[in-house]
Amino acid sequence: MKHLAGGIVLVAVSASFGLATSQPRGPPNQRRFKWEETKHIIAFGDYYTFVQGTAGYPGFSFIGDYRPGHLSFTPEELLTDKIVQGFGGTSADGPNCIEYLSGCAVEDGEWLPSECKMQLWNFAFAGADVSEQSTPLHAEYVVPLVNQTQQYLTWAEPVIGGHMKKERALVAIWIGINDISDTSKYNASLLHLYSDIMDSMFRNSIEPLYRSGYHNFLFLNLPPVDRTPANLLRSSPSPNKMMIEWWNEKLAGHVQDFSNSHNDATALLYDTNTFLNGVLDEPSMYGVHNITDFCPGYNNSTVLTDPGAFGCAPLDGYYWFNQGHITSHIHELIADDLRGFLESH
Ligand SMILES: *[C@@H]1O[C@H](CO)[C@@H](O)[C@H](O)[C@H]1NC(C)=O
Ligand SMILES: *[C@@H]1O[C@H](CO)[C@@H](O)[C@H](O)[C@H]1NC(C)=O
Ligand SMILES: *[C@@H]1O[C@H](CO)[C@@H](O)[C@H](O)[C@H]1NC(C)=O
Ligand SMILES: *[C@@H]1O[C@H](CO)[C@@H](O)[C@H](O)[C@H]1NC(C)=O
Ligand SMILES: *[C@@H]1O[C@H](CO)[C@@H](O)[C@H](O)[C@H]1NC(C)=O
Repeated sequence: MKHLAGGIVLVAVSASFGLATSQPRGPPNQRRFKWEETKHIIAFGDYYTFVQGTAGYPGFSFIGDYRPGHLSFTPEELLTDKIVQGFGGTSADGPNCIEYLSGCAVEDGEWLPSECKMQLWNFAFAGADVSEQSTPLHAEYVVPLVNQTQQYLTWAEPVIGGHMKKERALVAIWIGINDISDTSKYNASLLHLYSDIMDSMFRNSIEPLYRSGYHNFLFLNLPPVDRTPANLLRSSPSPNKMMIEWWNEKLAGHVQDFSNSHNDATALLYDTNTFLNGVLDEPSMYGVHNITDFCPGYNNSTVLTDPGAFGCAPLDGYYWFNQGHITSHIHELIADDLRGFLESH
């Protein structure tokens, strides 16, 4: 991983993209992002980031959904909406990465974001892709990323944005896990397609957030979903390692371009992929004992307290929670590593 001084941190990328030689720009005394001063995390993404809200679509969102008339909410609905922690609260039935990172709603129960020391406003929607212009909706109620940010800016920004010191807010985006899988069978040139998807994300989500005063961005790249239990059994995994590397290279390029053209913004790119491949390569170093399979009882609430009833070891020892999602323990490992990355910036 390469740390540059100008507000961008690059992950190792293929030399053919020439990013390693790019120079940081911008005035030397510009305002710098400081993790220690961060008070708000505004999150967008998919099931890996989703948190259940008491005003959310059950199993899918913190608030609202994509059906006509359901994207909006009143100030009252937003301010009384609580994050639910516990079975069904996340894709791991326990705290996820963004909850561990913020420290908000980590304990079982229901939590108002506004009462957390670091507030977590999480508009991620389970099953989301970047945009329905590029890939079909997984269901009519799934809010694509470009519409999550639209939802935030239209209905949440007037309520909470005005009270926020935006230099102390961090926008966190983790997306692409559904896109990479949905497009893996497309005949189109995938590199062009990924580029189009990124263009759409930066044009429709990042620029509008920037114009609204949010200048600190954190991007997480794709985890190694080429190593899911199902993919391990396939002679040609789908998505495969190359697709994931292409997506991550395109993301790095777009983050760099954004950083170059916005001198007063900080755009950080965390290399989830390298970290998690490291966990999969040396699981015992991380207290992980099973990287090939998941516990078949994952969808029964008793599995958290009595995994043995399903023939399983305690879930913290598993990398995979189910076919495509990681356990809460892996989310915590990412959050710990990510915190170090943010602190060292
Ligand atoms: C979702 O966002 C896209 C891109 O900004 C926009 O074209 C589309 O109209 C939005 N969908 C809805 C239902 O507002
Ligand atoms: C992709 O291309 C192959 C070979 O030309 C063709 O057989 C297949 O039907 C195409 N698939 C789609 C979804 O267009
Ligand atoms: C969950 O597991 C318990 C104990 O194995 C069992 O009694 C119960 O029927 C299961 N519930 C469902 C909905 O599968
Ligand atoms: C869990 O999944 C199994 C197999 O798909 C299914 O038979 C069972 O009903 C599910 N249990 C719950 C509680 O959803
Ligand atoms: C991994 O977990 C599955 C499901 O609990 C189990 O069947 C399998 O034996 C485990 N593998 C190892 C290496 O422990």
